Amino acid sequence: MKVSVSYLKSPYSVIETILKINETSCDYLHVDLMDGVFAGTNNYDQERVLNELKLSMKSLDIHLMMVEPAPVIQALAVLNPYCITIPVEILQDDYLIRLIKSYGIKCGLAINPDTPIESLSPFLKEIDLVLLMSVYPGLGGQKFLESSISKAKKIKEFQKTNSFVLAIDGGINAETVSLVGDYVDQCVSGSYVCMADSMEKQIETLKKTS
Ligand code: DX5
Ligand code: ZN
Repeated sequence: MKVSVSYLKSPYSVIETILKINETSCDYLHVDLMDGVFAGTNNYDQERVLNELKLSMKSLDIHLMMVEPAPVIQALAVLNPYCITIPVEILQDDYLIRLIKSYGIKCGLAINPDTPIESLSPFLKEIDLVLLMSVYPGLGGQKFLESSISKAKKIKEFQKTNSFVLAIDGGINAETVSLVGDYVDQCVSGSYVCMADSMEKQIETLKKTS
């Protein structure tokens, strides 16, 4: 299991958290950015975000929870992230997917708990990752939604004819990761890692789940 660590909920400052995550064996730094419209409270200040993310030694896994992410995609492309994920719910066509890929960046689509998996179908040939939301987007530290287990199993079926990574995001800890371990390739974990005494211990526990 690959592990991407979210720093949205952490007892340390953003910079301290990013520096601590640099010292661990996680695969990616998961960057949650919100506009206050699609989800949560607006936490996107371009200059601050660019300065913080410059400190990461981990590949960046950027999760945009925004209704109009195009300018943010353009601004963050300079960081050469591993992947930028946008919500499937905002797509009219594949313009944003092509925009992300035009920078040589992998494109992910996030899917909310109440969105039917069929909404992914028109885009599956073009994307590199599906981010199954196992909480409603907006906050770290929420409880894992059990309905995500059968949804993960169904989305995994799409991998038979498409090549994308299946990742899960929200409420992931030692217990919940084992519920989806048979279906997902990657997990995002925030508070379970950042709030612990040893980030590394938690990451190793998550990684061990196959
Ligand atoms: C929710 C975010 C998640 C969140 C994960 O809006 O997309 O990435 O920070 O944090 P935990 O693991 O605490 O649910
Ligand atoms: Zn996220």
